[in-house]
Amino acid sequence: MKAAQAGWVYLVGAGPGAADLITVRGLRILRTADVVLHDALIPRELLEEARPDAEILSVGKRGYCLGSTRQEAIQEALIRLARSGRSVCRLKGGDPYVFGRGGEEAEALAQAGVPFEVVPGITAATGACAAAQIPLTHRAVGPAVVLATGHHDPEGPDCKLDWDALARLGNVIFYMASRYRTAIARRLIEHGLPPTTAAAVIEKATTPEQRIVVATLAEIADDLTLPGEVGPSLFLVGECVRHRQGLYRPWESFAEVTAP
Ligand SMILES: C[S@@+](CC[C@H](N)C(=O)[O-])C[C@H]1O[C@@H](n2cnc3c(N)ncnc32)[C@H](O)[C@@H]1O
Repeated sequence: MKAAQAGWVYLVGAGPGAADLITVRGLRILRTADVVLHDALIPRELLEEARPDAEILSVGKRGYCLGSTRQEAIQEALIRLARSGRSVCRLKGGDPYVFGRGGEEAEALAQAGVPFEVVPGITAATGACAAAQIPLTHRAVGPAVVLATGHHDPEGPDCKLDWDALARLGNVIFYMASRYRTAIARRLIEHGLPPTTAAAVIEKATTPEQRIVVATLAEIADDLTLPGEVGPSLFLVGECVRHRQGLYRPWESFAEVTAP
């Protein structure tokens, strides 16, 4: 199996939260790299897999998406470390190419002529749906699914989402949506998605602190939240939620779901 090579950068997906949801290839790179640059949400247990003499650099970000270490600084560090002949594991939450700015890091490396490899990871949506036993797609009610960012105000100029299209499809998983979740639910209803559509919020998926609330879109639009929500969460919209273990609980009040 492949070990990390000198002068290379590996953009490795760490998976959604549970330490053992990294891929075998990702773990191998992590265990053999000279340097590990990691995001804020990487479990400590996983970092302990690095070589005892490896340099571990936290380049974590506040709010799961806003930069406290500048993105440019991360990219410069990756290039500098690789050019100094070290093998670099850039450990990123979920999958590096799903809302993780992995595309920007890959672009910077390519432009600098630094060899790199992307090792995919289980993204939060697939990890959370597996842990919560909700299918992402379903032959009867979910022929397609959209992974969307909920980071921007749905009424604001930075939001590039096509609300008519999302409401028509009706099967969407929003990342980074905790701030605008209510506004997103209202917007979907305004654009024609029935208020009775099933919805769910999953916080800290795949970790022992995972929590889930299952509701309707109308209830979310009416300001329903997980009390004291601080961890990363996903907002699921669509009838697939009703296929959670084949049961639908119209108002499952802040049930704790034990991670697998
Ligand atoms: C900047 S994005 C990075 C996504 C990551 N690259 C992936 O593929 O999952 C961070 C967002 O992912 C979601 N997320 C990450 N880990 C999560 C978890 N364990 N439970 C629920 N949502 C999570 C949240 O929506 C969070 O705001």
